[in-house]
Amino acid sequence: MKIKRMELFPITAELNRQDHLVIGGCDCVSLLRRYGSPLYIFDEATIRSQCREFRREFGVSYDNSTVAYASKAFISRPLAAIMEEEGMGLDVVSGGEMAVALSVDFPTDRIYFHGNNKTPDELRLAISYNVGRVVVDNFYELDLLNRLAEEKETRVNILLRLNPGVDPHTHRYTATGMLDSKFGFPIGTGQAEAAVRRALSSKHLKLRGLHFHLGSPITEVAPYNQGLEVVLKFAARMKKDQGYEMEELSPGGGFPARYVSSQKIPPVSEYAEAIVGGLVSLTRELRLARPKLIIEPGRGVVARAGVAMYTAGAIKDIPGVRKYVCVDGGMGDNIRPVIYGAGYEALLANRASAAYQEKVTIAGRYCESGDILIRDIKMPAISPGDVLAIPVCGAYCIPMSSNYNMVPHPAVVMVNEGRARLIRRRQKYSDLMKYDIMGKD
Ligand SMILES: Cc1ncc(COP(=O)(O)O)c(C=O)c1O
Repeated sequence: MKIKRMELFPITAELNRQDHLVIGGCDCVSLLRRYGSPLYIFDEATIRSQCREFRREFGVSYDNSTVAYASKAFISRPLAAIMEEEGMGLDVVSGGEMAVALSVDFPTDRIYFHGNNKTPDELRLAISYNVGRVVVDNFYELDLLNRLAEEKETRVNILLRLNPGVDPHTHRYTATGMLDSKFGFPIGTGQAEAAVRRALSSKHLKLRGLHFHLGSPITEVAPYNQGLEVVLKFAARMKKDQGYEMEELSPGGGFPARYVSSQKIPPVSEYAEAIVGGLVSLTRELRLARPKLIIEPGRGVVARAGVAMYTAGAIKDIPGVRKYVCVDGGMGDNIRPVIYGAGYEALLANRASAAYQEKVTIAGRYCESGDILIRDIKMPAISPGDVLAIPVCGAYCIPMSSNYNMVPHPAVVMVNEGRARLIRRRQKYSDLMKYDIMGKD
């Protein structure tokens, strides 16, 4: 029997004779029994295949391109090591993400340091490790970085993050390229132009190129073309007015993942075609040298690779109203439904082919009415102890997790070719208390 929802799971997903979900050759129900519930399972083959797809699709038509994984989607030391092996760059947005990269000897020249309010200490760290590019977001940072670089008697390679004023048609919390945004120098107001002038006159900064990021997820290619047109026309103007030749250009990340089976999203190849096609034709038209192209996918690399596994507990049926199936995780490990209204589907992982019988709402365990993972989804009859698997939980779930209600973070397991390795252990109650200080001051 073909189960449509299976398409959302990692590329290695299948069912075994026990009708259990299997990923990377490992029975997910057995993994849950072994490592405890809830559990996040990542499929290494899916991660590597996504890295290769991005590198291939962009590289094939534009060899001067690089793919930097946006680690905010999910980073851990083992994952950073995989990114290194796959020849990816790394986009980091904090000293913490940078520290993870440094801890696995990630080549610092492949690191891009982003953020709208990097601290002086974080910038000092970036300077001391000579990270590849600092992506400067505002005037405060431009001056601060120049001063810090002067103190260290060095010159820092930078990109300027611009705000092109383009609507990416995504959730307003994840739209970043519109004028009213905390990110980037707006082109429309003249501030981007002033930033180029100031960067060029900053003796300890070397302006390598321009960057923009429109938002996430962007489910159509058109906004990238609009952004490219605005930014390349701006670059042409900077060449004419200020004699500045852009060497590098990044249209950021934002490539989508398919979360529910009814959703259709363009393949990576379509984004690559649109972005590379737009870049080639616009640079020709505007008589600009072709810059190095840097893209920064986060979600597109890891979302499909991750599966959240939960155990069903309390089931509350309100006749004629709604049936709630409560699981042992929720907004503490996946806040996306609450903050973005994100949609998901689920599979009964221990009886995967059972017929869908009823509509239920899958609720989390946290003390908030809004802690709902999936509203109104058709499922087989679920009993306490059944195992639910929610696909496409690899991005922006674990890194946004909290200890709300003092619930420990779940364990994370990486599976590959029939082997499972624990890549993050489950938190213990003692972990939750280890930063508390008792006693008199
Ligand atoms: C500058 C920048 N690059 C890349 C990304 C990654 O976005 P996504 O995970 O949607 O690819 C983000 C996300 O916020 C971002 O701000």
